[in-house]
Amino acid sequence: MSKRKIIIDTDPGQDDALAILLALASPEDLDVLGIVAVAGNVPLHQTLNNARKLVELSGRTDIKVFAGSERPLRQTLVTAEHIHGATGLDGPDLPEPTYPVEEKSGVQFIIDTLRTVDDVTLVTLGPLTDIARAFTEAPDVVGRVREVVMMLGSWRELGNVSPTAEFNAYVDAAATDIVLRSEARLTLLPLDATHKVISTPERMQVLRDMGNRTGPQAAIMLKASEAFDMARFGWAGAPLHDPCTIAYLLKPELFSGREVNVMVETESELTLGMTVVDWWKSTDRKPNATFMTEADGEGFYQLLFERLRRLP
Ligand code: RIB
Ligand code: CA
Repeated sequence: MSKRKIIIDTDPGQDDALAILLALASPEDLDVLGIVAVAGNVPLHQTLNNARKLVELSGRTDIKVFAGSERPLRQTLVTAEHIHGATGLDGPDLPEPTYPVEEKSGVQFIIDTLRTVDDVTLVTLGPLTDIARAFTEAPDVVGRVREVVMMLGSWRELGNVSPTAEFNAYVDAAATDIVLRSEARLTLLPLDATHKVISTPERMQVLRDMGNRTGPQAAIMLKASEAFDMARFGWAGAPLHDPCTIAYLLKPELFSGREVNVMVETESELTLGMTVVDWWKSTDRKPNATFMTEADGEGFYQLLFERLRRLP
């Protein structure tokens, strides 16, 4: 596989953290052009701090970190401290970051990079505010994107932030709508896939016994953020949502799905942020995304462990 050039837009978040570490542990497969922090799980100043801490933890000093959007396009920001803790990255005792933040805004970085670099993949781990703003401010870049790979949405798994909506799609439903209608090449890793990738106690023990700093720190992160999903869904661990996007880039055969039409509810208070998946083609809406519903959980964790072992 030739190296994929990617930009990661993220709201760390412990599962975002594992995605970022997985990407940074895979330099032969992924050229991370930049990491853009966006408001989501916690406010922007904290997601930005957390992104800086994670790049420092990875030992990579070539990675550029940018500040993205601090609020959704229309909605008031809804955060998830009840899952991720007050800092958004509760658990590990990571030092206050000294890693630099680039002057340029994250949205401008996305626009400038898409205009000057061919074949770039956008990987989104949080609300789609930054991508929607880039596509709106610079419509010329939409056709230059190789693929937008998103942890976003749900179908049969319904919702995690509301009865019908997945958090990233919900927080900025207007941005989700802009991206889903953009005609860019879209690949979704929704709850239907990520709920098949559970950090069971056995898998957590592998992280603890990894023999480096990253493994145990990852286990501490996941322990600190698993309670909500375990209580709500009754699982033996929490799903590793965001790393599914990176695993898809590294080993696409771990996932399977279907080209379908996916739209999002932007008006109804009852179902705001619900992704409406036309799986059975009951409308004439043309397919606009690859929607992954299956994931090989065991294969995912073997990949994750193999790559995290490379980090300090
Ligand atoms: O619904 C799960 C998504 O919302 C993940 O990206 C998690 O980090 C939160 O942002
Ligand atoms: Ca996230």
